[in-house]
Amino acid sequence: MTERLAGDAGLARAIELLRTGAVVAIPTETVYGLAARADDPVAVAAIFAAKGRPADNPLIVHVDGRVGGLVADWPSAARALATAFWPGPLTLVARRADRVPDVVTAGRTTVALRSPRHPLALALVRAVGPLAAPSANRSGRPSPTTAAHVLADLDGRIAAVLDGGPCPDGLESTVVDVTTRPPMVLRPGPVTVARLEAVVGPIAVHPSVHAPDGGTDARAPGMRHRHYSPDATVVLFEGPDGAARAIAAVAEPGVHAVVVGPSAGPSITAFPDADTLGRALYAELRRLDALGVDRIVFGGVPPDATALLNRLRKASEPPTAR
Ligand code: TXA
Ligand code: MG
Repeated sequence: MTERLAGDAGLARAIELLRTGAVVAIPTETVYGLAARADDPVAVAAIFAAKGRPADNPLIVHVDGRVGGLVADWPSAARALATAFWPGPLTLVARRADRVPDVVTAGRTTVALRSPRHPLALALVRAVGPLAAPSANRSGRPSPTTAAHVLADLDGRIAAVLDGGPCPDGLESTVVDVTTRPPMVLRPGPVTVARLEAVVGPIAVHPSVHAPDGGTDARAPGMRHRHYSPDATVVLFEGPDGAARAIAAVAEPGVHAVVVGPSAGPSITAFPDADTLGRALYAELRRLDALGVDRIVFGGVPPDATALLNRLRKASEPPTAR
């Protein structure tokens, strides 16, 4: 049985469970994470087992802002970005210290670190120490933004879920590799390239950010894997006529349109802007799956909504894509 935890007593129980090496789903400002002590290889292995996650996809270690003991090198760009954006939805990939277990980093020479802004997540890392945590979904499914989403995927497979309500950002953190000059965005997220560049100057962007099949490069391991996929087929119409094409598609049975724009009607969900859709995306994918929709068509997403478009392009890849 998976324990449902909430409130102060729930936080105390989550701390107790994590200290003993259990796997607990926790709220963060982006999506729910599936956490275990980062210094306990057996506990971290249980995260991979619960998710069905490929062993070659490394985890993010969540910290309370202190990276000592976890990194072999913390370059000036990392210091500047951490000062500007931590705690918050930014993950920094740096050279790892030897004592970080191999299972956390999938044997890589680097480790991904993030200091979360969510008060419950911060309280947990302060009390327990560094926590390894990927998103708390079954591998390949949309990330969970509520405790109910976590349970839909993982009930009975994990010790507990700490309910902190819906996640405010709704899309996963921006991942930036700071081992290179210039630093390189490996996954777009709530912290935009423009905001990163305002702090450290020019930033490179990995090809997989814009083209989903550009993810064969070993530097962005997560981008090789199928992601963010509901049971329904996802179709993305890009370009200025995308919303109109999506709305036209609902003439066929089993099709539901999700658009950024004013128009609404039967089998259409309209969001006022890309940020609102970004926050609601994963909940909307899960809601439409529960309704038994065959095909979800998206349109009207502005071309500068980089993180949202990246997730939609990944979700709309054919199922054979690795
Ligand atoms: O917002 C988030 O980042 C959420 C919350 C829970 O913190 N976590 C999350 O974790 O989205 P996950 O495991 O679903 O995605 C982590 C991404 C993956 O694409 C993974 O490949 C990449 O970060 N990553 C982790 N360690 C890495 C490393 N050493 N080098 C390159 N990429 C790494
Ligand atoms: Mg994930």
